[in-house]
Formats: sequence, C-alpha cells, structure tokens
Amino acid sequence: MKIIVDSREKISALAASMIAEHAEKVPGCAMAFASGRTTKYVYDALAELNCKALSGCKAFTVCDYVGLDAGDERSCAFRLNEELYSKVGITNIHTPTPENAAEFDAQIEQCGGIELAVLGIGTNGHIGFNEPATPYDSYTHVVKLTDRTKARKAERFGGEENVPDKAVTMGLKTICESRNVILVAFGKEKTEIIHELVYGKTSTYVPAAMLQMHMNMTLLLDSDAAAKL
Ligand code: GLP
Repeated sequence: MKIIVDSREKISALAASMIAEHAEKVPGCAMAFASGRTTKYVYDALAELNCKALSGCKAFTVCDYVGLDAGDERSCAFRLNEELYSKVGITNIHTPTPENAAEFDAQIEQCGGIELAVLGIGTNGHIGFNEPATPYDSYTHVVKLTDRTKARKAERFGGEENVPDKAVTMGLKTICESRNVILVAFGKEKTEIIHELVYGKTSTYVPAAMLQMHMNMTLLLDSDAAAKL
C-alpha cells in the first residue's frame, strides 16, 4: 500500500490527477466513484483539470440509499451527478438499486472490471456501504445501515429518524478486485480508523482493512487522518 500525506488541497489535486491519468491511459475504462464530504474535494479538483478523456469513461456509483431515486438531492446518484458526472461530461452512468444488483455486477464484468475505484471511508471502516461484518466475497447487495452510520448522516437528512434504514452497495469482492484503488481520508475523525486500516488485523469487522492486501492501493491522507501512523 502506498501512503501519501499532504495538505487537503494538495491531496485533492493529486487524487484528481491520478483519476485523469487513468482516464487518459485506459480510454473508456470503468471507474467506481463514492460520494461523500471527502471525495467532493477530489471531484472539485478533477472538474478544474478539464480532462477530456473522462467523458468517455463508464461510471459506477459505489452505493446509494434504498428508496431514494436519482432525482432526490439526498441520494448519492444525485450528488455524484452534481459534483462530478455533469461537470466532467460522463454520461455512461450506472447506479445500483436492489432490483438491478445482478445486472449492475454483470455490467461491471462486461466492462472488464473496474480500472479505478475512488473511495472514502466511514468512521467504522465501511467502504461504499459495506458495514462491519460484510462478507469478503460479496457482490452488489442491500445492507442495513448501522446506528453509527445513520447518526453520521443525520444532518443531511434533517434528523437520524429520516435516514433510510437500508442502502445498496457494490460488494467488497468487486471493490477489492478493482485494478487500482484510491482511498481518501481527511480530518481527526478518521485518525483511529486509518490506523486500523493500515495496522489492524484483516477482519471483516473493519471492511477497509481488506485493502491492506491490494496490490495497487493508494491511501491519500491529510496530516490529521495520518496522525497515528
Ligand atoms: C458514506 C459513503 C461512503 C463514503 C463514506 C465517507 O457513508 N457510503 O462511500 O466514502 O461514508 O463519507 P465522508 O467523506 O462524508 O466522511
């Protein structure tokens, strides 16, 4: 695992240039994108690069809430469209739903797998919405969100009681089989879990720790997230 620590601004710019590089080197490749506060910094930097090759890429949204459609501004699909897809001209977009899960996986396979996955991390170690104890060999599936995750999403939904109980996410197997992975984390709230990701035992209780064994994994951190490394 390659670990790079720098300011939030420089890390965002670096992640953006890595994404653009893949789009240029592997024209039309499939990429997986996670939404969130962290990756928004990266997507803002990416939009500024004006990389033409990105518009030919196929985008696979890593996860979304069950019951919210792409027109709902709280959904990951909406957010990614606003923050990334519409800005860089990506039109070949795939979003998982409980109904299309098998088809979503088949589409990834038809593209030859994911060339690059761009991820954030939850404070409990989730990637996408693969919560602790998700089996390693999982494909796209529906998950019950933990109370901790729901509490963290409360603000966006105007109260924890409004956060959907379930989400649908690309599975750990598909994420870990991506040929390249970039995971970005910023801030003190991520210090502990980043320490677990890097030094913790590989266990399904810290889903992101599965990435310890990935051969092309880059961890991009600010100094707060890296404070215990
Ligand atoms: C969310 C998303 C993840 C995201 C993570 C971190 O729950 N499902 O894909 O990476 O949490 O989000 P943030 O960057 O807002 O802390």
